[in-house]
Amino acid sequence: MLKEGFLWGGAVTAHQSEGGHTMYGKVRAVCDNICQPEFGDFKDGIDEIHRYEEDFALFEECGFTCYRFSIDWSRVSPDGIHFNEEALEYYDRFIDALIAYGMEPMCSLYHFEMPQVLMDEYNGFYSRKVVDMFVNYAYKMIDRYGDRVKKWISFNEQNGIAFINDEKFLYGAKCPEGVDFQTFVNQLIHNTFVAHALVAKKVHTIKDAQILGMIIYAPVQAKTCDPRDVRAAMDHNAITEQYLYMFTHGEYLPYIYQKMIKEDKLPEMEAGDLQLLKENTVDMLSLSYYFSHAYSAQEGECKNPYLKESEWGWPIDPTGLYLGLRDIYDRYRLPIMVVENGLGAKDILENGTVYDDYRIDYMRAHIQAVKEAVSDGVDCRGYLMWGPIDILSSHGEMAKRYGIIYVNREDHDLKDMKRYRKKSFTWYQKVIASNGEKR
Ligand code: BG6
Repeated sequence: MLKEGFLWGGAVTAHQSEGGHTMYGKVRAVCDNICQPEFGDFKDGIDEIHRYEEDFALFEECGFTCYRFSIDWSRVSPDGIHFNEEALEYYDRFIDALIAYGMEPMCSLYHFEMPQVLMDEYNGFYSRKVVDMFVNYAYKMIDRYGDRVKKWISFNEQNGIAFINDEKFLYGAKCPEGVDFQTFVNQLIHNTFVAHALVAKKVHTIKDAQILGMIIYAPVQAKTCDPRDVRAAMDHNAITEQYLYMFTHGEYLPYIYQKMIKEDKLPEMEAGDLQLLKENTVDMLSLSYYFSHAYSAQEGECKNPYLKESEWGWPIDPTGLYLGLRDIYDRYRLPIMVVENGLGAKDILENGTVYDDYRIDYMRAHIQAVKEAVSDGVDCRGYLMWGPIDILSSHGEMAKRYGIIYVNREDHDLKDMKRYRKKSFTWYQKVIASNGEKR
């Protein structure tokens, strides 16, 4: 049985939902660079900036007790220095409404919404100047909303930085010419570790507030029991492990630290950095979980033949979530929350609803995995589905829907953006009302 007070709800970002792309002084952000031209863009989102009350009423009807959102840095502080009072007031109203509709707010300070100018002028988090600007912005947000927001995430999927391998640069930085790529990534990792620790320090000055370490948990399993595959998978998983280790021990994972030394790829560290990291660990761990992969020494990440896939080729592996929760909890013994999970699928609106049994199956299996982990001793405190109302995908694609609420818009046709309850809405409502017993 899940404990009373287990949090149920959903999670979104500002840029995938808000729209209002110039309202309150908002400017271009680095996440705009990952929209693919054939899809839409984030300009109109699902018009959440005007419709959040209507949507919160639907979440309340479904029984949500928690909602994770991000503050759009490029709206509240377009130049990274000054702040827009109008934008700050918008988030005041947004947070007040969330609470009024019975949800505990959980705020992500960074979900790829860095003002573009900070990438152009300083090369994003590669620069300690941007670390300072981010921390200044974060402190302002924590001071302003900390009386109402008690759960804070500094970076969404912080380990995503360590997997950068193309020109998308979610974290707003480019490898400077002449710099070794892995050394560049190690510097980004270090700088964002420092930024996170400074945010954690600030959160701990606010009464009852908690800082969550947040990763994308996308583990790999050895493709075979060939020890070379087992070792390769372990080395790959260490990239993520270094985050959990830093969040909880305040130190670099020994394997990663030694690797950086052996390869002569240590990042530049300022005096006091290591002590700062050591002193500012998290209160809770949190993760997004969508899939796992197989891994072999020869091929790297590869298909797991035992798993089915979504329409977007994402493997479906609820057992991977069970294993992850157990493994992470047994290792670090901190409360943990699933703060993103769900199935992106093409939905068809018929008779004013969507018969999305595929989504129900996916969520049922993953919630079952959470329940099993809890029954095996894991202190999991909540489950938030990704995009409970359809939002644009990370690449700006409206056809990839995760919601239990359908939004009537397409990539290039905004239609009326009317909201419709899908079949999964009623299902999730029952799950929540029974605290996970009726699935
Ligand atoms: C998470 C991101 O990794 O995955 C979200 O935090 C994203 O921003 C979600 O939307 C689902 O990915 P996608 O590409 O299907 O939208």
